[in-house]
Amino acid sequence: GNTPEREELIVADATSVDEPIPGAPGPVTHGIPVVGASSADGLALAEEGSTAFVEVLPAETRTDYNVIAELPGKNPDNVVMAGAHLDSVTEGPGINDNGSGSAAILETALLMANTHPENTLRFAWWAAEEQGLVGSADYVAGLSEAERERIALYMNYDMVGSPNYVFMVYDSDESTFPAPEGVTIPPGSTAIEDLYESYYTYVGEPYDDTEYSGRSDYEAFILAGIPSGGLFTGAEGIKTEEQAAIWGGTAGEQFDPCYHEACDTYENVDLHALEVNSDLIAFAMLTYAYSTESVNG
Ligand code: PHE
Ligand code: ZN
Ligand code: ZN
Ligand code: ZN
Repeated sequence: GNTPEREELIVADATSVDEPIPGAPGPVTHGIPVVGASSADGLALAEEGSTAFVEVLPAETRTDYNVIAELPGKNPDNVVMAGAHLDSVTEGPGINDNGSGSAAILETALLMANTHPENTLRFAWWAAEEQGLVGSADYVAGLSEAERERIALYMNYDMVGSPNYVFMVYDSDESTFPAPEGVTIPPGSTAIEDLYESYYTYVGEPYDDTEYSGRSDYEAFILAGIPSGGLFTGAEGIKTEEQAAIWGGTAGEQFDPCYHEACDTYENVDLHALEVNSDLIAFAMLTYAYSTESVNG
């Protein structure tokens, strides 16, 4: 059911009401879908000991879908995958996060649609990443062992056009970014990292490493032992002076100042970053469409 539940709140500390009271009319906090509030006792909400009713919607079950597109290659048993999450948070339209990655892999898919490469290419637009990597985790969990073994590698594109960008590549070097207990980055991942980095060098764009933080859809592939890589131009992290000297932009500000906010609109994309990364996304797919030997030996 979807009937709101009434919960009584007692204002215990009148000094704390500078903070928004959950349920007060105004922006709804993600994950706490409050539908209304009222003062219950005639006291002003700001007064100590006043009470308010807050209506909280119960958790809701929804069905969502991954979108998967495949281009058959000569070899059906060597599959090259690229993925980007298609959902956004409820607070905003999610154009950098993650219209950017979704559009880039769509463009690559369209460019390759009438080719017949050696390897089979599979593009995934993941559902419900923002709800906890739900779509990609479900996809990998549903693969048979034989299907899993046919996947040569996975490439992840989540936030590839941040307005205050740094070009970052997921880094598999355990000495820089130790993986969490029990997690091994599949060895072939290093070759994917190397391909991205050689491209940035070739086009004269500086790049840096970033950790496999487990915060995007590559996670299920890594845990399944499938070599994985990806690109990232930054989210809520703050650009340093050193980074601003290399990539331009504004030191002391978030890589994406509109991360998970209503202002993540079409204007919230750096078109140079998006263009460089879109070309690289196509380059990587085209490279692996003909051989994955550097990754899988
Ligand atoms: N997955 C995060 C999001 O969608 C963004 C992110 C990507 C953070 C990669 C860190 C590394 O909000
Ligand atoms: Zn996000
Ligand atoms: Zn994202
Ligand atoms: Zn690196």
